[in-house]
Amino acid sequence: MNILGIESSCDDTCAAVVRDGRVLVSNCIASSAAEQNLYGGVVPEIASRRHIEHISQVARAALNEAGLPLDGIDAVAVTYAPGLIGALLVGLNFAKGLAFAAKKPLVPVHHLRGHIAALYLTHPALEPPFLCLVASGGHSHIVQVQDYTHFKVLGRTVDDAAGEAFDKVARTLGLGYPGGPAVSKAAESGDPHAYALPTPHVEGAYNVSFSGLKTAVLNLVNRARMQGQEICVPDMAASFQYRITEILAEKLLAAARDTRAQQICLAGGVAANGLLRETLSAGAKKLGAALYLPARSLCGDNAAMVAAQGYYEYKAGHTAGLSLNGLATLSIEEG
Ligand code: KG4
Ligand code: ZN
Repeated sequence: MNILGIESSCDDTCAAVVRDGRVLVSNCIASSAAEQNLYGGVVPEIASRRHIEHISQVARAALNEAGLPLDGIDAVAVTYAPGLIGALLVGLNFAKGLAFAAKKPLVPVHHLRGHIAALYLTHPALEPPFLCLVASGGHSHIVQVQDYTHFKVLGRTVDDAAGEAFDKVARTLGLGYPGGPAVSKAAESGDPHAYALPTPHVEGAYNVSFSGLKTAVLNLVNRARMQGQEICVPDMAASFQYRITEILAEKLLAAARDTRAQQICLAGGVAANGLLRETLSAGAKKLGAALYLPARSLCGDNAAMVAAQGYYEYKAGHTAGLSLNGLATLSIEEG
């Protein structure tokens, strides 16, 4: 079964074809990230406009690369929640039009379920149940993936998402947007123990909090500037990356230990982070659990992950009519 996936929840306009939820056939992306960098972060209105300009070409490219006519696909899967509402609506309305014109089923996909499905494209033998940390620009969840369409959130951020913290620290350090890759790059030549950054206290065994950590970086930078000193950017980037990684890894591994998870996974944009991947590899080995990481190329937003999850949603009977609406927020459990 060939599924055309469409994704436009943030600043990437994406279309892809995936076969039977597991085989990546084509994967096309037009990103407005470089333009968003001029403004230090995502401007929702700019994201929506660029989606409108790019969506038809990107979808056509995905079909062309797959060597398929529109009639060669069996369903259209689309991210309908959560995300920037104006951005989501562009992909959603495009997908509706395409499904209607081609007389194919329309399959709604929750964005975070999509991120998790990137793992199925990377690891053909991976099957639920598993425990997964989904860390992106908008969410940080520790999720029990019970089966392909049933999820239980064990922990979440009580304030900023992990990716958002990377982006804000990058802005404070003058490193540009998106912040994750920039902080990670700067950290390569830094000392992770140069600055002692706090581990914020948070209620709930598997919840995380990053707003205090971000503020600690901001305060250190401001204090140094007021005293006429310069902060060492690589050292601060490395110290921040070290601390946030420790927090995420500790909570995920505690949840894995307590639930006796045999399989631990990582997903979302932050899953591309090298230190987080290494730290979790070592931690999972100690627990005796298998660790599955998504291919780096599939960590950030893409439509292959949407098409992959779309396959399992379709098999579970989750299709929608043309009245389907986009939602800015929606729990992964309900999605
Ligand atoms: O999943 P994603 O592409 O979009 C959302 O759904 O939000 O995640 C984007 C987030 C951004 O905050 C970006 O800074 C972060 O993922 N990110 C990283 C890395 N690459 C992207 N964070 C840490 N290290 C990275 N290498
Ligand atoms: Zn995402």
